Order: sequence, then structure tokens, then C-alpha cells
Amino acid sequence: MSQLVIENVSKAFGTQQVLRDCGLAVDKGSVVTLLGPSGCGKTTLLRSIAGFLVPDAGRILVNGQDISHLPPNRRDVGYVFQNYALFPHLTIRENIGYGLKIRRKPKALIRGKVEDALGLIALTDFGDRYPKQLSGGQQQRVAIARSLVLEPEVLLLDEPFNALDAQLRLSMQIELRKLIDRVGITSIFVTHDQQEAMTLSDRIAIMRGGRIEQLGTPLEIYDHPQTPFVADFIGRANLIPVAIRSGRTDSPQPIAAAVPDGPGTLVVRPENLTIAEGPGPGWEGSVGFATALGATIEYEIDRGVGEPLRAILPRQPGVAPLTPGSRVTARIRDEAAAILLSGSPRP
Ligand SMILES: Nc1ncnc2c1ncn2[C@@H]1O[C@H](COP(=O)(O)OP(=O)(O)O)[C@@H](O)[C@H]1O
Ligand SMILES: [Mg+2]
Repeated sequence: MSQLVIENVSKAFGTQQVLRDCGLAVDKGSVVTLLGPSGCGKTTLLRSIAGFLVPDAGRILVNGQDISHLPPNRRDVGYVFQNYALFPHLTIRENIGYGLKIRRKPKALIRGKVEDALGLIALTDFGDRYPKQLSGGQQQRVAIARSLVLEPEVLLLDEPFNALDAQLRLSMQIELRKLIDRVGITSIFVTHDQQEAMTLSDRIAIMRGGRIEQLGTPLEIYDHPQTPFVADFIGRANLIPVAIRSGRTDSPQPIAAAVPDGPGTLVVRPENLTIAEGPGPGWEGSVGFATALGATIEYEIDRGVGEPLRAILPRQPGVAPLTPGSRVTARIRDEAAAILLSGSPRP
């Protein structure tokens, strides 16, 4: 049974419909990420789960119990904010123990749980410092520990690593995933960063305009995006407009279609394109840009129409990229790697 279930949740602010019929079920101990562009409703959905907001319609259940009408402090849900929100005048130990203290837990119990939490985030030696004496990454670990000591049923994290630089962000993502696995807590993580979502999620819910557009494991979504928006949001993708006639695309390299005749979008990941010099059966064009990244060479191929095609090829030792202006033909490496969707690329 799913530990957290969100059923048909909708919410409007004035005339603006911000959540539209959102549904989601999260298994115990797993991490679901809400991923989508700024303004698509991620924080609003998280705040609805926490109880800071009351949805206009729908239900939220934890362990089968409807919590939709409970106030935040009775929901057993932890919330980690983007900006840490630690108390500056309290030490790290006091910050972590704060929630237990206001719940009037016995002192000895608080002391034990705070030490456990400090160990969990590897900050035992920092317990008597104040927040401003810690780095941003350390402060965010404290913010997470402060939620975990209350042993909530569900942990919600709203873009917790936004203030961190790229390298620290990546190590925090891995650390958080390990921490969640150790304590086995059901989590919903919010981000607008697709790489972050790929790194730490069991499943990703792609949100757009207040709707969940697709839900799946990171690789399901990468390999089988159901809409051009999802294809473009997770990883990089060439979105090639095509017409489908009699079960085939009209593209230079025709692809068999399992979707109805009419306008279509061919979705091709850059690593699934190959490049050959000169003309041939495929998308002809010229090298607009080439960069060798050591292990790979990335190309932009200009075709005179539409967006340039992006291709990423493995690089053999000693091989330099083709020079800009070279005439080339791009082909899909393996027809099985082509994804064909109904409708135009940007509806
Ligand atoms: N309290 C509020 N009152 C009015 N509009 C709001 C409120 N909170 C959020 N919104 C609007 O709802 C939309 C979604 O916001 P939000 O859930 O914060 O998006 P995200 O977290 O995905 O960036 C935005 O257009 C935002 O301006
Ligand atoms: Mg937000």
C-alpha cells in the first residue's frame, strides 16, 4: 500500500488555476520528485500536503487516513525549505532539538535523538557552533536533520539545494539519497533541475501548468517520454516535426509509426544520432558547431530549416571533430532509439 496518496487535488488563487487534478501515490521509503519549470505549481502541491494550504478539491491520505482537514502540526509531515531557516541565535544542537523541545519531550530523549541526528549528517563535532559558522551545505544538512528528528511519516523538501554551488549540490544530492535510504523515510522532493531529479528519485512527476504530465522512473521518462515537453525537459532531445502517412514518417530517414497518420514529432536523443561526411540517406546539413569534450564530440548540424540537430558521438583517441562548414548527413543510429509522438513539437 502506498504511504502517501494524493487524489485529484486542485487549487486556484483567484482566477488562476494553479493545480489541476493532481494525483500521485508514494510508496513507503521511496522518493518522488516533482520536476517542472518555475511557476508550474510544485510548491503549491507541497504546501497542500503539509497543510499550509487547503486545496479546493481532492484528498491527501497518509497510511490510508485522510489528513486533508488536519492542521499542519497534526499531519506528521516534515518540511525542509529552500533557505534553511535555521535559528541564528541557537546552536546546531539546539536547532536540531528545537521541535522536540516545543513538543515537551523529556530532556534525555532529546539529547539522544539530537546526537543520533548529528551523527547521521556527520556533524557531531559542529554541534556547539552557530549556523553562521557553518557552510551552506552544512546548514542545509542541519535543516534536514531538524526535520528528521521528529520522525515524520513523510518528508517534503522544496528545492533545498538551490543556494548551493554546482559541485556541492551534486554531492548533497548523493548524500541526501543515502540518508533517505538509511532512515527509510517517504519523501517528496521538489526541483526544477532535471539532473538533480535523475540523481535522487525513484520516480519523477513532470509537472506543467498545474498538471502532472508524466510519472515514471527516471529511465522510463528518459526512454519513453509521452509528450514533446517531457522529452525536452528530461535530458536533451531533438524534436523534429514530421508528417505521418500510411504508417511511416515522411522524414529523410523514414520511421515506422505506431501512431495515427497526421502531424508527428520525432524525438531523438543526441547520443542516438550518427554523423557521416557527405550526402546520403538522412538529414543533410553542415556542421555549425563542434566541440570535443575528451570522451565525446558534440555537434550542431544546421539544416537550413528548423532547429539545428544536436549529436553526441563517442570520440576515439586522436580523433579531432569535423570542422565547421563540413557537409554531413545525420542518421538515427538504431530505429529502436527513435521515439515518435502524435502532434507538433510545440503545441
Ligand atoms: N499564495 C498565493 N497567492 C496567489 N498566487 C500564488 C500563491 N502562491 C503561488 N501562487 C501562484 O501560483 C503559481 C504556482 O506557484 P508555485 O506553486 O510557487 O510554483 P513553483 O513552485 O512550481 O515555482 C504561480 O503563478 C504563483 O504566482
Ligand atoms: Mg517553488
